[in-house]
Amino acid sequence: MKTKFNVHKAKLNVHKSEITAIPSDAQCRKMMAETGTLQNMVAHSLQVQRVSLFIADHLEAGGLNRELLSAGALLHDITKTRSLVTKEDHARTGEALLAEKGYPEVGRIVGQHVFLDSYLFGREPSEAEVVNYADKRVLHDSVATLTERMEYIVERYGASPERRDLIQLLWDRSLELELRLFKLLSFAPDDLARLMEENGDAAIRG
Ligand SMILES: [Fe+2]
Repeated sequence: MKTKFNVHKAKLNVHKSEITAIPSDAQCRKMMAETGTLQNMVAHSLQVQRVSLFIADHLEAGGLNRELLSAGALLHDITKTRSLVTKEDHARTGEALLAEKGYPEVGRIVGQHVFLDSYLFGREPSEAEVVNYADKRVLHDSVATLTERMEYIVERYGASPERRDLIQLLWDRSLELELRLFKLLSFAPDDLARLMEENGDAAIRG
C-alpha cells in the first residue's frame, strides 16, 4: 500500500491550498471536551475516525485529504450530546458550529454524516462519503455490519411510520454507498473488522 499512500500525500498538497483550516487531533479533542461530549460518544467518534482512515488508506482512488477526513470523522457528533436535550438536528448544527469556528470544510463533512447532500456519486469518493459510511459501520464503539447498525437505528429512532420510512431510505442509500466504496477496495465489507484488528486498529466487535 506504500505507493498508493504516497499518491494520496501528493494530492493532499493540492487540496490543502483550497481549505480554510483543519483542526488538529488535539484541537478536535479540546472541542469535544468544551461541548461536553459524553465519553461513549467520544469512543464512538474515535472508532469512526479509525474506520474512515482505514478505508481511505485502502481506496484505489486517491485525492482524499487525510487530515480533513480525520477531523470530520472525529467531530461528526460534536453537537450530538446537547441534541439529546434540545432535539436539534445535530448534523446541521454541527456544521454551523464548525463554520463559526473557522472550519467550514470540516463542517460540510459533519453536515452530511447522516444523509449525504447527493447520492449521485462522482468519479472519486469524497471525504464526506467516507465519514458517512464509516458512521454506518460503527455501533457504539465497535465495528459492525451495515445491517446491524441500521437495525439499531430502526429500533432506537424508528418510533413512527414516517421515521421508519426515512430510515429505510437511508438504509437503501447507505447500501448504494457501500457498493460504490467497495468497488474501490480490495476487500469485502464483512472483512473490515478483521482487517482492522490485524492492522492493530482496535476494531473490536461488541
Ligand atoms: Fe451522528
